[in-house]
Amino acid sequence: MQEVENSMSDVKLDDIVSLAKRRGFIYQGSDVYGGLSGTWDYGPLGVALKRNIMQLWWKMFVDGRDDMYGVDAAILMNQKVWQASGHVDTFTDPLVECSNCHARHRADKLEDPNKCPACGMSGTFGEPKQFNMMFKTNVGPVADESSISYLRPETAQGIFTNYKNVVDSFYPDLPFGIAQQGKAFRNEISPRDFIFRSREFEQMEIEYFVDPEHWEEAFEQWVAQCKEWFTVLGLPAESVHELEVPEDDRAHYSKRTIDFEFDFPIGREELMGLAYRTDFDLGNIQRVSGKSMEYTVKGTNNRFVPHVIEPSFGVERALMAVLASAYREDEQNGDKRTYLAFPEHLAPVKFAVSPLLKNKPELVEKAREVYRALKAKHGAVMWDDNGNIGKRYRRQDEIGTPHCVVIDFQTLEDNTVTVRERDTTEQSRVAINELV
Ligand code: GAP
Repeated sequence: MQEVENSMSDVKLDDIVSLAKRRGFIYQGSDVYGGLSGTWDYGPLGVALKRNIMQLWWKMFVDGRDDMYGVDAAILMNQKVWQASGHVDTFTDPLVECSNCHARHRADKLEDPNKCPACGMSGTFGEPKQFNMMFKTNVGPVADESSISYLRPETAQGIFTNYKNVVDSFYPDLPFGIAQQGKAFRNEISPRDFIFRSREFEQMEIEYFVDPEHWEEAFEQWVAQCKEWFTVLGLPAESVHELEVPEDDRAHYSKRTIDFEFDFPIGREELMGLAYRTDFDLGNIQRVSGKSMEYTVKGTNNRFVPHVIEPSFGVERALMAVLASAYREDEQNGDKRTYLAFPEHLAPVKFAVSPLLKNKPELVEKAREVYRALKAKHGAVMWDDNGNIGKRYRRQDEIGTPHCVVIDFQTLEDNTVTVRERDTTEQSRVAINELV
C-alpha cells in the first residue's frame, strides 16, 4: 500500500464538493429548480455529520461543564433587539456595481479593486454603498414599520436577551456562560466557496459573562478551549492559525478579537472568532429596555454589568474543515482510492454490514441478525449488499465508515466475522459477541 499523505494544500475544493454531492452529504439548495444562491441542503450523511459535530460541541461546552446554561431562543425577535445591538445601523458590507454588466460585488473582497470579475472591464465601479446584510421580513398580515423583523444574523442576541431570565431562574456565580446553537441568516453580497460563505448557516455561540476585572484571564482560557475543540474535530494543529484582529477590522462591539483561521482548500480563511464584547450588548439592552442588567455578587453590595467573552463557532466552516482534514487519496493494488479518515466519533456511519454473497439466504439471515444487534447498540450502522465486496469497501471508504463487517460461510460455523478497517484496510476475524 502506498500512502498519500493529506497535506491541506493538495486537497481541492472541487473534489470535496463532488464527493459531498455524489455520496449524499451536501446538495445545492433548491437544486431541482436551478438552485438558490448561498443555500445548501444536507443529505442523509451530511446531516449525520453536522449533528455529530453539534452534539459533540454541546457535550463538551454545555453538558461537560458546570458553569454553562443552554438556551434555544426564537429566530424572529423584536426589531428593537437589532436597533439596540447596532446591527440596523452597522451590520453592512461595502457594495459596488459594475456600470457595464451590472454585476454586484463586495468591494473589500475584490482581487483587483478596479476590475469587475464578472465582465473583466476596468474602471466601471462607482463609489461603494453600505449594504445591510440582514434579511428583513414582516411579522403578521400588516406590512408597516411596527411589524418589521429580521432573520437573526447571529445567535448571540438570543443569548443576551435571555441573560436576565437565566440569572433570575438560576442565579449562577460569575463567571458563567450561556450557550446556543441554531440558524443564522446573512444576505451576503457574494456567497462563495461551497458552504464557506452562505446566506443561511448555523452557529454555536457562547456568551461568557465575567467580572470586568478578570476578562483577560477568561479570554486566555477560551483560547485554550477553542484549541482543544479543534483537536477533538481532528484538525491538524499546524493547519490552525491565530490572527490578532487589528482594531480597524474588528466588529463594532469588540475590544479584542482573535480569529482562528484554517488552511482550507480555498486558502487560509476564518474558521471561527473569539471576541471580547465588553458590556456593549448588556449595556445597550439596559439603555433601550430600561431594565437593569446589573449582577450582584452574592453576599455583597458589589453590582455591575458583566462583561462578555464570546467564542463564536460556525458549524459549516467546522464541517468544511473536518471534510478537508479527513480527505485522503492512496493506492490499493494499483487502483486509486479516496477515503475520508474521520475521527470515529464524527463518522456519519460507524459500521457497514454485508453478507459476502447476497444470493445465499443463510448468509443474509445471519448478516441481518448482526446488523440489527449493531444498530441497536450504535444506531449509525448501514446495511450494504450492493455490488461485490471490493466495491462495497470503496463506497464505505468514500463516506468515511471506519469498520466494514462481512458475514461469510465461516461465520455460520464459528460465529466470527471479518472486520475490515478503513484507514489501514487490514482485516481481522472477530467473534460476533465481542463486536456487539
Ligand atoms: N456573534 C458573533 C458573530 O456572529 P462573526 O465573526 O460574524 O461573529 C462567527 O461570525 C462565525 O460564524 C464565523 O467565524 C463563521 O464561522 C460563521 N459565519 C459567519 N458568516 C458566515 C457565512 N456567511 N457563512 C457561513 N458561516 C459564517
